Amino acid sequence: RLFYDKNCPLDSLKGKTIVFIGYGNQGRAQALNLSEQLNPAPKIIIANIRDSYSSRAERDGFGFTSDWMQVAAEADVLFLLVPDQVQPKLFNDSIAPSLKKSACIVVASGYNVFYKYLNIADSNDIVMVAPRMIGTSVRSRYESGEGFPCFVSVEQNGTGKAWDMALALSRGIGATKGGVIESSAREETLMDLFAEQALWPTIIATFNEAYSTLKGLGCSDEALVHEMWMSKEPAEIFEKAAEDGFVKQLVHHSSVSQYGQLKGSFEVDTTAIKKEFKRIAEERVLNGAFAKEFMSLDKDGPGVEKKLEELYAKANESELAKGEARVRERLGLK
Ligand code: NAI
Repeated sequence: RLFYDKNCPLDSLKGKTIVFIGYGNQGRAQALNLSEQLNPAPKIIIANIRDSYSSRAERDGFGFTSDWMQVAAEADVLFLLVPDQVQPKLFNDSIAPSLKKSACIVVASGYNVFYKYLNIADSNDIVMVAPRMIGTSVRSRYESGEGFPCFVSVEQNGTGKAWDMALALSRGIGATKGGVIESSAREETLMDLFAEQALWPTIIATFNEAYSTLKGLGCSDEALVHEMWMSKEPAEIFEKAAEDGFVKQLVHHSSVSQYGQLKGSFEVDTTAIKKEFKRIAEERVLNGAFAKEFMSLDKDGPGVEKKLEELYAKANESELAKGEARVRERLGLK
């Protein structure tokens, strides 16, 4: 199902107190859009730790509080918009105990709901309103009068009115101008984590292999980095795929290229990739193994930041990354 402005009355938001836990990428954009969309503006409270984000909330005229228990007790709608790995402890320890029984919890990603990391009472509503855009685009597309792609779902209908609220919120944050897509926390999490752990890693690994193969056959670093990505040709191909169609965009290429790409796409051996994709979807994403590993990094392990440093150091050791670093230095690029 697709929902547009006309299917999404804002009535459910009348007189409600709306709390944003977090004023980051999504929190700021969604709070600003919501405050401007409704007339009269609803009561919006920003709850945040004292940091650069809370200063932004003050500069934007919202102010902020760090009294989680107090805001939880006031909230009719509570947007949970802090990083996914921060949500469970903050919510379960400091918010859930004082929440109203009828409050609607709004998440922008399915992760913590699908993996059941949040302790939410059966009487509450849980809705997902998940923009497929970074926060700055959520804001700029609202300001320019466009909508933005967004998934919506009801994960728990404690009040029996969760769908009305989910659709009102989707419109309230400015998403329904372009059509909001019905989804679920499972589908959103599966697609998101699959893309992050299977699709893009395969593309990264494929680029690394292509670089090493062509370097081994005598191609220079300069030629390779420009041919493969610095010319921005891949970015243009994906832009054309979005505009014209995934297959149709091929017509913009030469006949030699079209023939090569089409024929090659049927002939390349994808047996190993198919097996690997299924393994990652089922044994890493759907069964929660990845989430468990990721969530334990901060709890019992080296911490997310430290682990990322290690992974970046390893990525920078690839032939491709070293070749690019040499080229950037020779060309005086950052
Ligand atoms: P963010 O990384 O911008 O979050 C920053 C906010 O979290 C700030 O308000 C900061 O004060 C607060 N925060 C950080 N650490 C904290 C802690 N330990 N305790 C309390 N508050 C803390 O978050 P972002 O990217 O807006 O993500 C929020 C939700 O939106 C997540 O569920 C994410 O998956 C989802 N989402 C994010 C998108 C994006 O473009 N970044 C796109 C679509 C969904």
